[in-house]
Amino acid sequence: MENLFLKVEDREFGPVSLGELQNLVMEGSFAREDSVWSESIDEWIPAENVVELKNVFYKKEGNGHYKQKIYAVASGKGGVGKTIFSSSFGVGLATMGQEVIMVDADFGGANLHTCMGILEPEFTFFDFYSLQKDSLNEIVLPTPVDNLKMISGACGTLGIANPKYFQKQRFVRELKKLHADSIILDLGAGSGYNTIDFFLLADEKIIVMTPEPTSIYEAFGFIKVCLIRELNRKLRKFPAALEILAKDEINKPNKIKLTIGDLLNEVEKKDKAAYEIFKTTLDGFRPKLILNQVKNSADIKEGKAIQGAVLDLLCVQLDFLGYISDDQKVKEAVRNMKPFILDAPGSRAAQDLTALIRVGLLGKKGFKEILERRRWRKHVESFAREYPEKDLLKNATICSQNCFYWGDCEYQDGGGACRVRHMEPVLTELALTT
Ligand SMILES: Nc1ncnc2c1ncn2[C@@H]1O[C@H](COP(=O)(O)OP(=O)(O)OP(=O)(O)O)[C@@H](O)[C@H]1O
Ligand SMILES: [Mg+2]
Repeated sequence: MENLFLKVEDREFGPVSLGELQNLVMEGSFAREDSVWSESIDEWIPAENVVELKNVFYKKEGNGHYKQKIYAVASGKGGVGKTIFSSSFGVGLATMGQEVIMVDADFGGANLHTCMGILEPEFTFFDFYSLQKDSLNEIVLPTPVDNLKMISGACGTLGIANPKYFQKQRFVRELKKLHADSIILDLGAGSGYNTIDFFLLADEKIIVMTPEPTSIYEAFGFIKVCLIRELNRKLRKFPAALEILAKDEINKPNKIKLTIGDLLNEVEKKDKAAYEIFKTTLDGFRPKLILNQVKNSADIKEGKAIQGAVLDLLCVQLDFLGYISDDQKVKEAVRNMKPFILDAPGSRAAQDLTALIRVGLLGKKGFKEILERRRWRKHVESFAREYPEKDLLKNATICSQNCFYWGDCEYQDGGGACRVRHMEPVLTELALTT
């Protein structure tokens, strides 16, 4: 691109070359939200919306890898909205100009692909796990949204639910080679070691919770086991500290009799170096909370309550990112197999998510941001109009009592499109070998 003119606040200047623009970005004088004009565009638009300028803002590292940010989305309790959040979050980041890959890392019950309207993914994680594909980049699938790609999980494949150590290492290594600015890991429910380890490797650790006692209890438990695993790892060279961390009173999944603060005090008495590492680990461990399916303002208080408990008992700062309303439109979007931000961009839930991404996750505030957010929402709405309307039911098997798996299937949804058809070959193979 040539002869670019720039506008920062109300000040216009230019023309500048791409190299000069790059320098301005690096010295912080020009941001992706600021406007550009060129003869070919013929209007002032935010620089982040100009495809040719993307590399100016998302500079790759010298080794050719993307400077990616990994987001992990976890819960504790299942069915709280991790997958529907991940898919709409992916759309949100992609429509802001980032290159995004969503990874279905729920190895036991993959279903992110169905949220994106893909019934039978061409490749799944199974192709990588079974060594048929060497790299994760080879199993990345396109989605109907520009800049948004995904890796589909291998639903129902025995063995994958609990990958072996070397498979896990290979996965983590490959994850870092993915060609994306943002990677979103949609994790499975529960506190299995794999889920915990994927959660811990992420740059942004997001917990989705609903305002119900079981969900809150399990979210707290999940944060606790993740923290203890991280502390064990960081303190592995300090046997006295490890002994203190191994106490039953902190590890049993019942009422906490000892707080992390108590353990910290004990460690301080035994080993000053371990104490310093302990403290740094607590400061660095900053999970983020999203409250989903909120029905009223009393529900929002649950977010505040768990924040207090996590700080008191675990000495950890849990950042509250925001909430998403309980909204019938989300359920309809699930049935339409579309991310809700595209199926119902004007819905309460979509608006909540918009605010949550821009303000909570990306930290954008202020008047300029309000205008920008409006423009972005319009952009998402135009995407929603263009998103292909697929007649999913036309080719899909309909879920009914005639199905062999009726009564046993966790995705059973009588009258809806079957969500597990792609498992047929796996299940048939299993049936033949058992
Ligand atoms: N904000 C919401 N409003 C209304 N319904 C919602 C909302 N969020 C989630 N749901 C409902 O909860 C269901 C489960 O959501 P989702 O599959 O995303 O949960 P999950 O945490 O990924 O589950 P799992 O632990 O099985 O992976 C959705 O199909 C939808 O019906
Ligand atoms: Mg899920």
